[in-house]
Amino acid sequence: MERLQLDFNNMMQGQIGPHGLTDGDLAAIAPRVLAAQRTFMEQRGQGMMGWTSLPYEQGAVVEEILAYAQDIRARGIRNFVVLGIGGSSLGPIAVHQALNHLHYNELPDEKRPGPRLYVEDNIDPERMRALMDIIDVRETVFNVISKSGNTSETTSQFLIIRHALKEALGQDYASHIVCTTSRDSGSLVKIARAEGFRLFAIPDGVGGRFSETCPVGLLPAAVCGIDIASLLAGAADMDKRCQQQDMHQNPAMMAAALSVLSMEKGMNISVMMPYADSLRYVADWYAQLWGESLGKLKDTRGNIVRAGQTPVKSLGVTDQHSQLQLYAEGPQDKVITFLAVGDYRTGMPIPKDGVGIESTDFLCGHSLEELIQAERKATAYALTRAGQMNMTITLPTLNAHTLGQLLYYFQVQTALTGFMLGVDPFDQPGVENSKNATYAMLGRAGYDDKRRELEQAPKAEEKYRI
Ligand code: PA5
Repeated sequence: MERLQLDFNNMMQGQIGPHGLTDGDLAAIAPRVLAAQRTFMEQRGQGMMGWTSLPYEQGAVVEEILAYAQDIRARGIRNFVVLGIGGSSLGPIAVHQALNHLHYNELPDEKRPGPRLYVEDNIDPERMRALMDIIDVRETVFNVISKSGNTSETTSQFLIIRHALKEALGQDYASHIVCTTSRDSGSLVKIARAEGFRLFAIPDGVGGRFSETCPVGLLPAAVCGIDIASLLAGAADMDKRCQQQDMHQNPAMMAAALSVLSMEKGMNISVMMPYADSLRYVADWYAQLWGESLGKLKDTRGNIVRAGQTPVKSLGVTDQHSQLQLYAEGPQDKVITFLAVGDYRTGMPIPKDGVGIESTDFLCGHSLEELIQAERKATAYALTRAGQMNMTITLPTLNAHTLGQLLYYFQVQTALTGFMLGVDPFDQPGVENSKNATYAMLGRAGYDDKRRELEQAPKAEEKYRI
């Protein structure tokens, strides 16, 4: 089996100097990470840890999804549009980019394993209009994804699309909408039942940012021809590694220990830097997982802790020419995680015929894969010499199985880190205030108190506007 590998040499004093971690630090934190791992084992499959069961319990769901994906192709549907936001969109985007052709939508129909995929995760009116300019809704299926079934952004997109479909197709409109939402709660499931939309359920105990391996992610992936059974098998393999109690055998445990140790040493920033365009949106997905799960005002006992580590997305090699100067010489407040791929899925040789200038011709006969690997290693070396903490996660090759391992590894690392910090990694109370303020501004019933609160808030002063 191709296994994800975590190399954390460059977190250690022996490599980066006094600023680094020691074997003593690892030994000292071992009981805490073990306690977190025990919590993980005790709570698996319960409460908000339903996502730990997803790799094992979805045989029937996978069959249903594959049949639906086949049906979409048989109907000649040309576009599949996801309407969703946050945990309901970042996973589908990340998996699509990682496993499909990098110009998937531009491929001719016969070279694509499914319809074109669009994930509309914002409510910018120009973007929505632009989508409507390039698709024909009669050839399109819209997948409305919302765990709560009540999210304003997704609901407003849904209302726009429903109206457009009804105008174009009359009563046939319902076969162009498929909803992925909670089985029993929220408005979306009620609407879907009332109007006859196809429904896929988000299981209980699976929060938005932990939902990629349920129908939220599996449906769009399957429609585009991704091997979702392998994705789940990869997650299951990682889950087995994550059940081991020895942190030296369990990559998520080790990563959680390193994260907490680094935070305690003042590393307030976590830079995720894939050296593969295909993994660039995994960095976005990770940013939500890490930021929303750990960024908490209070711990589970109600003490003010202001926990968290700011996630930053970076892309190798592109951002070597943008952010690397800061990483090398700026504040020692960050951990850089490189995402490496052992073997790229395609080669691109650099031709042997040079131009007769040494500073150009030294590249001749090499390849882009050699160059990108050399630049990744050189960057890790340079950061290490600069005393900056960094580590490397390597996928031997990138496929559905190794991607499943990677996503699941990050989920367990996040849960364990949350437990070690004493916060609830599965809630997001800080997001509610902004949602409620939006409801109040748009006059939603039941938000009068919030409206009054907004009216009484300190007024902005002209002198601070120029
Ligand atoms: O991780 C989360 O819970 C959030 O980011 C949600 O996914 C996001 O707010 C969208 O919510 P919903 O899926 O309920 O529409």
